[in-house]
Amino acid sequence: MSDPQTPNNQIPEENAGMAARGSNKITFLPPDAPLLRVDNVSTTFHTPRGDVRAVSNISFEVRSNEVVGIVGESGSGKTVLSRTLMGLQPRHGVTVDGSITFAKRYVAERGDAIDGQVPENPLVGFEVARAKESDLRTVWGVEVAMVFQDPMTSLNPVQRVGNQISEGLRVRQGMSKADAKKRAIELLTQVGIPSPEERYRAYPNQLSGGMRQRVMIAIALACNPRLLLADEPTTGLDVTIQAQILNLLEDLQRRYHMSVLLVTHDLGVVATRTDRIVVMYGGRVVECGNTRDVFYGHRMPYTEALLKSTPKISNSSHSRLQTIPGRPPDILNLPPGCSFAPRCSYATEKCHQERPELEATENEGHFFACWNPLPARKTPPATRSDASEIGVDSVRD
Ligand SMILES: Nc1ncnc2c1ncn2[C@@H]1O[C@H](COP(=O)(O)OP(=O)(O)OP(=O)(O)O)[C@@H](O)[C@H]1O
Ligand code: SF4
Ligand SMILES: [Mg+2]
Repeated sequence: MSDPQTPNNQIPEENAGMAARGSNKITFLPPDAPLLRVDNVSTTFHTPRGDVRAVSNISFEVRSNEVVGIVGESGSGKTVLSRTLMGLQPRHGVTVDGSITFAKRYVAERGDAIDGQVPENPLVGFEVARAKESDLRTVWGVEVAMVFQDPMTSLNPVQRVGNQISEGLRVRQGMSKADAKKRAIELLTQVGIPSPEERYRAYPNQLSGGMRQRVMIAIALACNPRLLLADEPTTGLDVTIQAQILNLLEDLQRRYHMSVLLVTHDLGVVATRTDRIVVMYGGRVVECGNTRDVFYGHRMPYTEALLKSTPKISNSSHSRLQTIPGRPPDILNLPPGCSFAPRCSYATEKCHQERPELEATENEGHFFACWNPLPARKTPPATRSDASEIGVDSVRD
């Protein structure tokens, strides 16, 4: 992960190259470039009540084949961030600052060269934040796809689900009607929908919530994206179906070597399914790092509070679930200091006046923002009982 405090959208000089192509400049990336690099990104809505800065100065990276969890309570800015990363914010009334670089696969053409040579399998930096919609269409669905929070409003209620899957295949991959239908039925089978030929002709309201979410996943996977952004993919589903959908996503990620950004309010969901975690509060990153560091060595009291409010299998059946006192902050009236201060049991005077910036721990890529951090843990516990003491039942290795 790049240093979240030091935004860096520069490609290292020795690896960078420029090729003139018409009037466009193409920046080639080094082969080990992160798939997605988010540098100092802020999203501001200009509303009649004033400017709402829903996400502020976010920086992180997603590498190939990596699963990154974005966690935070309702209103912390997870969906605004996800839509911003996809380039889905409206052009008017919203300002996106910072840089979102996607390492796009590039089909080399004659004349594209670095020092006279076109690199093998070149990647180019695609700047999402400033891309035109016509350019965004070259990555949407093909290189990066999104599973939205609410399948009922994301699916077209008057179109058969099969057509909603095959449409993308015909438009983006130029498939014939028959081939697109065949592939759509294959996809319905892959996402675990029984009687896929029959379901192909169904309308969304004829499917259960879990099936609709599976259809959304099938649409997202149709063109084999390299990055899947799943925004609360299990909202509104019962616990058994939630687990099935999350297991399906995990299985598909491993099978197709995709990168996944998994957005959720539930730390228990990301414990076993992510490589790294970004914790958000009041539109900012307050802690981030690899999953083990965040679970076992978290320094930020908000992360601790989130963990304590996560149900554990090891809890006795009548034990009370801890909650975080108070409410998430009003994004229009954020307190001047640490946004968590009104709810934090460790808060001191300084916390109410000055906002802490992210600072690095001794563990690579682990950052937290807090004036009174929890003590560093030297040896991360590894046993199952140690893990449940901290707040989870197990963590992905
Ligand atoms: N179009 C908009 N105009 C003004 N404010 C907005 C807009 N969209 C979102 N917001 C505000 O941005 C903040 C973050 O919203 P967001 O939907 O990203 O939260 P979230 O973390 O996804 O929450 P949830 O877990 O409930 O989905 C909220 O305070 C919300 O009211
Ligand atoms: S900065 Fe202060 S208020 Fe904020 S999390 Fe740390 S101790 Fe709590
Ligand atoms: Mg949301």
